[in-house]
Amino acid sequence: MTYHAIAIDGPAASGKSTLARTLAEKLGLVMVNSGAMYRAVTWKILSEKIDPKDSAAVAESLGKMNIVCGRDGVLSTIRIDDGDPTPFLRNPEINANVSTVSAIPQVREKLVRLQRDYLQRTHVVMEGRDIGSVVFPNTPFKIYIDADPSVRNSRRSDDGEEDSVEKRDAADSSRTTAPLKVADGATVLDTSKLTVEGVVEAAVSILKGQGFPLHGTLPPELSEEPHIPMRWIYWLGWMAFGASYRTLFGLRIIGDENLIKSGPVLVASNHQSFLDPPLIGNLYKTEMVFFARKTLFKGIGKWLYPQWNAIPVDQDRPDMGSIKTVIRKLKQGWRVLVFPEGARTLDGKIGEAAAGVGMIAAKAGVPIQPVRIFGADKALPRGTGKVTLARITVKVGKPIILSPEELKSYSGKEGYQALTDRIMDAIKAL
Ligand code: DC
Repeated sequence: MTYHAIAIDGPAASGKSTLARTLAEKLGLVMVNSGAMYRAVTWKILSEKIDPKDSAAVAESLGKMNIVCGRDGVLSTIRIDDGDPTPFLRNPEINANVSTVSAIPQVREKLVRLQRDYLQRTHVVMEGRDIGSVVFPNTPFKIYIDADPSVRNSRRSDDGEEDSVEKRDAADSSRTTAPLKVADGATVLDTSKLTVEGVVEAAVSILKGQGFPLHGTLPPELSEEPHIPMRWIYWLGWMAFGASYRTLFGLRIIGDENLIKSGPVLVASNHQSFLDPPLIGNLYKTEMVFFARKTLFKGIGKWLYPQWNAIPVDQDRPDMGSIKTVIRKLKQGWRVLVFPEGARTLDGKIGEAAAGVGMIAAKAGVPIQPVRIFGADKALPRGTGKVTLARITVKVGKPIILSPEELKSYSGKEGYQALTDRIMDAIKAL
């Protein structure tokens, strides 16, 4: 997979970090603060009592440093020789010496390599001075942000920081190796008169103009469907059902931009008719896993249903076996459809749902996609077996992505029921 890099460059206190962090959260990228890497090395040099101006001594010490760059959620992390420099990165002595250390070519060489490594693993929004010019010169997504020096100075003092931004800017712009400059292809954004929201809005529209794949509110890695061909028997059912739904019922999908198309996801839908499982299966171009009544697994069904990735479920009593199978499938990376109500609706209304779905969601810890079907109860009403040319609409809701803390809070029978109720409320709200 190719990952995208957004490069944000600009002088000190121009608002790079705030913008990069917000974009990371909004677009699902990892935010890498390259300044923090130069600051971390400066911290190590100072703590070893090396003179930052002695570039030979800095280079020698750098050669022995074990720098480990990682991530915690959407933010980058850095450790040096098992020490954590993070709490000290904005100390005045680091502000005063980081420009000197970062002008040393060997320092830049080592850190640029680590910065590029991020892109081997994930999408990144990286901020610094030379990201668009040196680190990722080929990325089409480049923003240079700037603000009046007076505005930048007051931002720093508002943060309670002792820093001379002009002095640092002069040093960062005049050094020979990778000086601060507007990279080729970068769009300049002046943030002097903008609020944080205004900056983010302007940046998103610049990225759109540069062709960044913005998929609604979903991170790109969730909205890009992988190219995994269906097995022929699955494809046959998918094709036949899809074509007939579109012709007979004028199938309409609303909220497609919310659809998570890659990786494991628990799709939770209301249940109206036998048409529902292939209806949901048709939202995607890759295979997924379904539940089917145990009684269907006989005759040809015994062969066919497993081909369509159906897991047998006992509708008459709580079926822990199938719940466990679903959790396992989700952990293996599958997309699974569940009907929290268990049975099809009798009156078109959404019924009650038991704790099972909440348990699956809490134990698997995958995103939950609420989906609501309209009109399938008219197209093939329960108990009649008669098909009517009624219009079917499927509404896809924004995914519910639970943080580790939230996941922990949904435990035990009551917790599972609370999560089921949350999922059902999301379906009803569609
Ligand atoms: O963005 P910041 O203020 O945290 O950066 C601290 C210093 O690090 C900055 O004055 C120059 C240096 N730096 C650099 O040389 N290249 C980068 N890509 C990022 C920061």
